Amino acid sequence: NFTPSAFVEEIVEELKQKIGNDKVVLGLSGGVDSTVAAVLLNKAIGDNLYCIFVNNGLLRKNEFESVLHQYKDMGLNVKGVDASARFLDALAGLDEPEAKRKAIGKAFIEVFDDEAHLLTDVKWLGQGTIYPDVIESVSATGGPSATIKSHHNVGGLPDFMKLQVVEPLRMLFKDEVRRVGRTLGIDEELLGRHPFPGPGLAIRILGDITPEKVSILQEVDAIFINGLKEHGLYDKVWQAGVILLPVNSVGVMGDERTYEKVVALRAVESTDGMTADWVHLPYEFLMKVSNEIINKVKGVNRVVYDISSKPPATIEWE
Ligand code: XMP
Repeated sequence: NFTPSAFVEEIVEELKQKIGNDKVVLGLSGGVDSTVAAVLLNKAIGDNLYCIFVNNGLLRKNEFESVLHQYKDMGLNVKGVDASARFLDALAGLDEPEAKRKAIGKAFIEVFDDEAHLLTDVKWLGQGTIYPDVIESVSATGGPSATIKSHHNVGGLPDFMKLQVVEPLRMLFKDEVRRVGRTLGIDEELLGRHPFPGPGLAIRILGDITPEKVSILQEVDAIFINGLKEHGLYDKVWQAGVILLPVNSVGVMGDERTYEKVVALRAVESTDGMTADWVHLPYEFLMKVSNEIINKVKGVNRVVYDISSKPPATIEWE
């Protein structure tokens, strides 16, 4: 029988014993696991925990600034690193999904390694690995840790990966992590966030990625996600997002013919991401969101809703 408060007490004591006065570096992703891991480590060793939060330029609209702010408010010793340009450069000209994932994983490792080198005498790498990640080698929803794991055999080990690893959540399931987060007083909004893939919007922009496409998708995604929140639907959905399709469609605006982008809205119910059903969102809601997107986001003239379940479709399109 799992008791979050007892777990917190035990693990904090264990971390203190294990780490002593050593320094730990940890990559925050904005997700639940890395955040809870960081707060536990911070409770145990204070500012000897050095957190790094990387902006890969593929996060949701305003996410980097707002989440970084939240982390600071929580008292974490965190450095925000805006590496957007580096990631976008690494992605330039790539249109194949796995090539995009590899480029992002490699850029992440380089940025993280550079940052880790700026710190002296770090002995440990903190990670938000949870029990299901331990069983499967690649996490479905983990950000940095999943990225690292699936790419650590490419081109030799970066220095930070030679550090000793400390994983305070490695025996916990997702719902237990949330309960621990609640006990630690972490914001409900953060704990209730939908999963978001490590490669971010890069795998929701089908085909090649440009800064213009990223900003169109960020705008559309923000309208959809805020709409779900305003209509009390966000917490009823396991994951939601928008896909920017690599096709233009014909439309009319006033007397003008338009030839602009198509976006697909996606919202699924699931327990672990392995299987998923599309959510029967109310027509009224879909109508409102579609109108708002087409009226407000320049460059988009058509919205469609994805009604495929997994299997045989997947949650993401790439
Ligand atoms: P699929 O598309 O495989 O997605 O049905 C299942 C879950 O995994 C997430 N996903 C990823 N997460 N790196 C990640 O960290 C990735 O490359 C990746 N691809 C898919 C997806 O968002 C969903 O939650």
